[in-house]
Amino acid sequence: MAVDLLLGLQWGDEGKGKIVDVLTSKYNIIARFQGGPNAGHTLVFNGKKHVLHTIPSGIFHEDTKNVVGNGVVIDPVIFKNELDKLEEQGVDYRSSLLISRKAHIILPTHRLLDAASETAKGKAKIGSTLKGIGPTYMDKTGRNGIRVGDIELADWKLKYRALAEKHQELIAFHDVDIEYDLDELETQFFTAIDTLKSLTFIDSEEYMHQAQKDGQSILAEGAQGSLLDIDFGTYPFVTSSNTTAAGACTGLGIAPNKIGEVYGIFKAYTTRVGSGPFPTELFDEVGETMGRVGHEFGATTGRSRRCGWLDLVALKYACHVNGVTQLIMMKGDVLSGFESLKVCTQYNYKGEVINHLPYNIESENVTPIYSEFKGWKEDLTEMTEASQFPKELNAYIEFLEKELEIPITVVSVGPDRKQTIHRN
Ligand code: GDP
Ligand code: IMO
Ligand code: MG
Repeated sequence: MAVDLLLGLQWGDEGKGKIVDVLTSKYNIIARFQGGPNAGHTLVFNGKKHVLHTIPSGIFHEDTKNVVGNGVVIDPVIFKNELDKLEEQGVDYRSSLLISRKAHIILPTHRLLDAASETAKGKAKIGSTLKGIGPTYMDKTGRNGIRVGDIELADWKLKYRALAEKHQELIAFHDVDIEYDLDELETQFFTAIDTLKSLTFIDSEEYMHQAQKDGQSILAEGAQGSLLDIDFGTYPFVTSSNTTAAGACTGLGIAPNKIGEVYGIFKAYTTRVGSGPFPTELFDEVGETMGRVGHEFGATTGRSRRCGWLDLVALKYACHVNGVTQLIMMKGDVLSGFESLKVCTQYNYKGEVINHLPYNIESENVTPIYSEFKGWKEDLTEMTEASQFPKELNAYIEFLEKELEIPITVVSVGPDRKQTIHRN
């Protein structure tokens, strides 16, 4: 059976966690394929909010297996905190959570190295979540990393020590003021490693292969968004993994010809957290209202998210790179009450009108060109069917579908699992 993908098409925080949770009842397996605790995926149901960082968003469904794939990087300490929270909620994850032996482990010194590197960059900093993501993927590609499978080996702590010592030298090399107590960090780390070891490790590529052969339905859950992709994002202001569809192949061992539906998820406007270019960013009251009404604060770091109008040039690019087959529009409810809405349809790039995302989208090169739409006043949050949508919202949706040439099959009108409207 083909594997479906769900991917963020913007700069992350599109609402992936919510929609994976909504779709989980259709799938036997939910699998994360990249990223790590830099992600914060929010799920709301039965009046409660849950935030997951590394654990797939299918974990609240009893009969679903949840795979943490080889492309993910795991911080055992954060992972243990997530497990503790699940336990408090009475979620029995022991039989449903499976971890790839090939996933890499974030060491305490990776996190310190992230902080040292960001501090050293000064004004040019990426705005990283400081979870050690960059340094861990650097060790992966540098062929120095420690993987989940290693902690099953008797002598892995020797490898750990050698790597941690190398990291300490690198931290010192950055020549910035980073204070840390490694003994304390390591006590926490090794306790969390023991918890990790009590879980089920798998050869996930083989598991996924067998599951497909057995006709199991699988949904791969992306983290971050396409514009944060290491290759196709707004480099260097990106994360360190492939967040796009290809990342699901390398991060789970799925063959490209086994990909089925590609659900592309986007907000009805745009947000970004951290540094980097954002052509449609708003610095006025409108942007401030979007942030306030949309509660645009990071689920992982609590930082305010920058807000702006929907950028169709960037969205089209993300649809192409991922091969999106269905679109899911989130947070339409946040736009209720605006007199008019803008959508960027082209860029003025160094004096020329263009329709594609150029190499450099810094504000000195790019000015967005907008189409304007009449807003709607109606509150969408209580609506249960697309037939209740105001005509202005329908016009907005239909315009996007026409421009992107992909149907919008789901419209989300609030954070709750129930506030999800399927369109034919
Ligand atoms: P993710 O990283 O893609 O899973 O997204 P986040 O969880 O970081 O951010 C999405 C935020 O929007 C969360 O606070 C969700 O509870 C909330 N949310 C999701 N869908 C909707 C929606 O349709 N309307 C509103 N108002 N909030 C939503
Ligand atoms: P989810 O899965 C939004 C951003 C950071 C920073 C850049 C690099 O919740 O959508 P990193 O920690 O990876 O070195 O940070 O990427 N970033 C995210 N922004 N949502 C995320 O994940 C993000 N993960 C990383 O803010 O700009
Ligand atoms: Mg998030």
